[in-house]
Amino acid sequence: MSLAQGRPYLAIPGPSVLPDRVLAAMQQPAPNIYQGPLLEMTDALYLQLRALAAPGAPDRVHPAIYIANGHGAWEAANTNLFSRGDRALVLATGAFGTSWANTARRLGVEVEVMDFGRQTAADPNRLEAALKADRAGTIRAVLVTHTDTSSSVKNDIAALRAAIDAAGHPALFAVDCIASMGCDAYDMAALGVDVTVAASQKGLMTPPGLGLLWVSDKALKSCASSDLRTPYWDWTARIGATEYWQLFAGTAPTHHLFALSEALTMIGEEGLPHVWDRHARLARAIWAAVETWGQGGDIALNVPDPAARGHSVTAVRFGDGVAGRLRAWTEAEAGVTLGIPLGAAEPDDPAYQDFLRIGHMGHVNAHMVLGALAVIEAGLQALGAPHGAGAIEAAAKALLR
Ligand SMILES: Cc1ncc(COP(=O)(O)O)c(C=O)c1O
Repeated sequence: MSLAQGRPYLAIPGPSVLPDRVLAAMQQPAPNIYQGPLLEMTDALYLQLRALAAPGAPDRVHPAIYIANGHGAWEAANTNLFSRGDRALVLATGAFGTSWANTARRLGVEVEVMDFGRQTAADPNRLEAALKADRAGTIRAVLVTHTDTSSSVKNDIAALRAAIDAAGHPALFAVDCIASMGCDAYDMAALGVDVTVAASQKGLMTPPGLGLLWVSDKALKSCASSDLRTPYWDWTARIGATEYWQLFAGTAPTHHLFALSEALTMIGEEGLPHVWDRHARLARAIWAAVETWGQGGDIALNVPDPAARGHSVTAVRFGDGVAGRLRAWTEAEAGVTLGIPLGAAEPDDPAYQDFLRIGHMGHVNAHMVLGALAVIEAGLQALGAPHGAGAIEAAAKALLR
């Protein structure tokens, strides 16, 4: 008999759990879009967005909101950054780096991908060498994911910025924080990032539907004549809006704005440093459990170096086809849905078929994480999958450390 009745838990790497407060914020009649509370709320929301992506210097970044998912946010970044035939250097550490590269290529950008595999962070030395080799400075932008959700590899943005500086290269620096915003420490102004990309549905605890960009002064100026821009994606009017409708190139996504505003208020109440710390501690608990299971079975964290692991998602490798059966068991028997592998890009590598991802982003606390881990442990037992003992105890200890 299944034990899944009760509140289900979506432990996938986005969309993430929606807080009741966010759901309640959306539960209201259509607002006046010409004047009044919606416009005041939107002004406050832009201030919240600045403080989220650049807490140390919020005035140095310019947010733009698109009615779009992450793919739309990529397109917003691509079309504003590049003109036809421009060169881009993409540092790929998983499927999302590769996909961002493909979206730019399809727009007519000449894309070079430096592939670092799926288990290690991008190497700043290789970036520096590639930029030094580009003596004419023709690479217009370097693109990288902060955390690649498919592999859970986290890149060291400060080290990559330092590499661009060491090469003395003028390239703009764009970072996909779709899986890390509101989860891992980040300050785009302090890090010297020119364009940050995010979306509403992961650490920001809001339904999918808002794509977010933050743009530096340097990028605003440098991209003024990018010719890939189309009216909808062009950030110029959105960032310099004098009329409310210009912020959204049309009708405002009213209820998503209510939701995002409430979510950012929750982040503000908890305090961003505390939010980052909560994610770090919950991540450490998950890593401790997986490492313990691995002591007695064919189970391993995908990313060996803790410094290169994102704090919002953990990719786990299994052997003997356990991952798929385990996902099915945890959902059917215990109401916990785990993330699928994104292995289609690596059809020849069996490691990416027997793989799952645990999402721990946004509205997640200790009991949710410890509960999910205990359910995974029960699933391993039910399936007779060999695993080390003591994982939950190890997780509890890691949480307190
Ligand atoms: C790092 C990263 N970039 C981009 C995307 C694409 O976002 P979307 O699925 O909202 O289009 C995702 C989605 O999971 C992601 O995790």
